[in-house]
Amino acid sequence: MTTVSVIGAGYVGLVTGACLAELGHQVVGIECDRSRLAMLCSGELPIHEPGLDELFAKHRAFGRLCFTDDYAAAIPASSFAFIAVNTPARLDGRADTSFVLAAVRTVLEYARPGLTLVTKSTVPAGTGDEIERLVELSGVPGVEVTANPEFLREGSAIADFLQPDRIVVGAEGAAAGTRVAQLFAGVQAPVLHCSRRTAELAKYASNALLATRISFMNEIEAICARAGAEVEDIARIVGADRRIGPAFLSAGLGWGGSCFPKDVRALIATAADHGEEGAILHAVLRVNRRQREAAFERLREAVSCRDGATVGVLGLAFKPGTDDIREAPALDVIGRLIEDGIRVRAHDPIAMPNAQRSLPHIGYFEDPYEVADGCDALLLATEWPEYLDLDWRTMRRRMRGAVIVDGRHALDVERLTALGFTCLSVGGRRRSAQRQPALRR
Ligand code: UDX
Ligand code: UDX
Repeated sequence: MTTVSVIGAGYVGLVTGACLAELGHQVVGIECDRSRLAMLCSGELPIHEPGLDELFAKHRAFGRLCFTDDYAAAIPASSFAFIAVNTPARLDGRADTSFVLAAVRTVLEYARPGLTLVTKSTVPAGTGDEIERLVELSGVPGVEVTANPEFLREGSAIADFLQPDRIVVGAEGAAAGTRVAQLFAGVQAPVLHCSRRTAELAKYASNALLATRISFMNEIEAICARAGAEVEDIARIVGADRRIGPAFLSAGLGWGGSCFPKDVRALIATAADHGEEGAILHAVLRVNRRQREAAFERLREAVSCRDGATVGVLGLAFKPGTDDIREAPALDVIGRLIEDGIRVRAHDPIAMPNAQRSLPHIGYFEDPYEVADGCDALLLATEWPEYLDLDWRTMRRRMRGAVIVDGRHALDVERLTALGFTCLSVGGRRRSAQRQPALRR
């Protein structure tokens, strides 16, 4: 049984630690935030991630997963140290690797010879070289520096870790790469070995390409809104091509979360640092930002003539299955509505506590039907399954207006149109009732 330390107990670190324990390793999570650490040590999870609670409880009970803030106790006993601390975007878009480098420095104070450092956090190409310089300065012999980027989607992170499409291992020496790959021996997936810099950059390329597909479909949606075509049907047609595939072709409010926005901006900065324009990346960011503005315009148009105009927002998390509101489209649109003096009533199945900390001055309701009361228009911002099954006749009766901006093209247009709703896409097209629901990603 290999002993592994995982530094950082956030979305990435907790999933990594629990899944490494599931693979049979002895895991110590190192977390600097005292309140978060206290929760973890008392058996409570600070985040919502489907399936994590079971793994967390199981391996804590087996004594295979524990948490501390004491590097001196954890690191000397570890053969591997995974760095999973946050790499937030700086104002200039570059990734802030200060938390990563600080964590490495502390690890090196207690590292035994032969420790393998594994950077799980998303870091710019070349960060591994900076870490290697810290290793040299530390004088600890035999410490290897490797990169093992994560491809975890919030809401499906456990499956993405244990049944990945591939495992990427970036190392400058074959032995180190093999040692890291062996940690994943129980996982049925190809291991792609490459250089450290390649692994670091591949993570950004992967996220940026996924974001590009979405922004591309939002560009197509804007054209559809004027050309009289159905973007969902175009997604179905384009996605049927095996070379393209159906995933990540859903137009709407666009992408949020702690990764795509941060990683596209960081890749733009990397391009600029190497004298590259990053033309496509700039456009991908611009189109994504425009979607939020367009949704706000649709809603403002819908309520403009009303005194005490009120908009209902269904969904606050950046996507279903998570309580994470980081860079969530809903929050941007709500911010614009408030600036315009429009009242907002909101619901989300699990993200309201997080949203209330960022947006305390709007109405939050545990019951989505209460969101409809007196509203002149509704925005579906997150396609939680429970919204698709609402009694929309009741919603219509409780509303003052009849406009729905379906930010995720997820609602049954035929049913809603028959109830007297006007269903708009973010681009402003009245969604027609005759087509089939689009392929969901
Ligand atoms: C983040 C990014 O979202 C992801 O793209 C990147 O790959 C890793 O960093 P995430 O887990 O979402 O992943 O970050 P976050 O939820 O902010 O958790 C980071 C955790 O590390 C926090 O609990 C923080 O307290 C902890 N931390 C940070 C430490 O324990 N020590 C530190 O020095 C810094
Ligand atoms: C993403 C990557 O998928 C994952 O591989 C990486 O490790 C971290 O970043 P995540 O941000 O958790 O994962 O969620 P994801 O499912 O990728 O969705 C990102 C955003 O894109 C969400 O706001 C979602 O609503 C949006 N999206 C996704 C679309 O707008 N259209 C789509 O077709 C798919």
